[in-house]
Amino acid sequence: MRIFRERRADAECDSRAARGAAAPGAGLTGVRAVVAIASAKGGVGKSAIAVNLAAALALAGHKVGILDADLNSPNVLAMLGLQAPRRVFGGDAIEPIAGPLGLRIAASGLLPGGEPPPVSFLDDEAAHAAASRNGSALAELDYDDALRRLIGLTSFGALDVLLIDLAPGLEQLFRLARIAPLAGAIIVTQPSDFSVRAARGAIEIARLCAVPVLGLVENMVGFSCEGCHSVRPLLPHGDLAAAAAAEEVATLARLPFDARLAESCDRGVIFIRAYAESPLAKNFHELARLVALKLSAALAAESHQLSAAEEAG
Ligand SMILES: Nc1ncnc2c1ncn2[C@@H]1O[C@H](COP(=O)(O)OP(=O)(O)O)[C@@H](O)[C@H]1O
Ligand SMILES: [Mg+2]
Repeated sequence: MRIFRERRADAECDSRAARGAAAPGAGLTGVRAVVAIASAKGGVGKSAIAVNLAAALALAGHKVGILDADLNSPNVLAMLGLQAPRRVFGGDAIEPIAGPLGLRIAASGLLPGGEPPPVSFLDDEAAHAAASRNGSALAELDYDDALRRLIGLTSFGALDVLLIDLAPGLEQLFRLARIAPLAGAIIVTQPSDFSVRAARGAIEIARLCAVPVLGLVENMVGFSCEGCHSVRPLLPHGDLAAAAAAEEVATLARLPFDARLAESCDRGVIFIRAYAESPLAKNFHELARLVALKLSAALAAESHQLSAAEEAG
């Protein structure tokens, strides 16, 4: 088993990371827009949203990839019904997994077995004790180094949008911004005061890192009551609207709770295809439309550059 750990700020770790680091963003050459899906806390729906937003963008005609940057708890492949990969390498490059709707997926399981070099965070004595307890099956790996390699080595090819599904925590966006050039971030929240405060923290971090906030997605805002045909509150309402206005950030979507989304994720089925007529599926298509609109300037500018380069070549 491999565990990706925080880097210890000492010379040994730094030199190992420097020795093994792939060039930042080297695998992103053909990607027009890289978008992070971030949240301050876990379980708010980032991965479920990443998968269905990616599918909605693909159904709208875009070439889309997903990079599962939750290195220790990757679940994007499973949510798409794909097996944990048998590793496919072409030289040093990592070939992403081909998913439904032409989606191209990369996850930590694709990293070569010996890469990046393991970093132990235990002193020698503790490491030996742990090794004798657990049969030495655990390798601790530097998190940022592994993420940098996964991003740098994966041959995504030509993509319109690469969604990067982050692990929970405000620091994840900060760390990713140092590794990959981001066209923007989507911040996922739930209706609670805590989530709203956390969303404001995420916006602040995005701004510190000069990452444009494409907008907020408020998930699980209510549930559809089949008995009385109304949408009823599910969680206490944090005042996201006021926070979004104060931060001058758009709310891109307010998504209801629909148990069939959780069930679809568990079964590895794309919700917006399985329940295409549901209100939530329509919310995802509208979210995709708004995201594409927000990215349109970057996409148009980039495609202009590409065609200019093609003409020159
Ligand atoms: N709107 C929703 N309705 C029903 N279930 C949802 C919804 N959003 C997310 N879920 C479910 O909640 C759980 C946590 O979502 P997940 O995407 O794994 O969160 P995160 O990636 O932020 O940790 C998953 O089982 C997912 O299917
Ligand atoms: Mg997740």
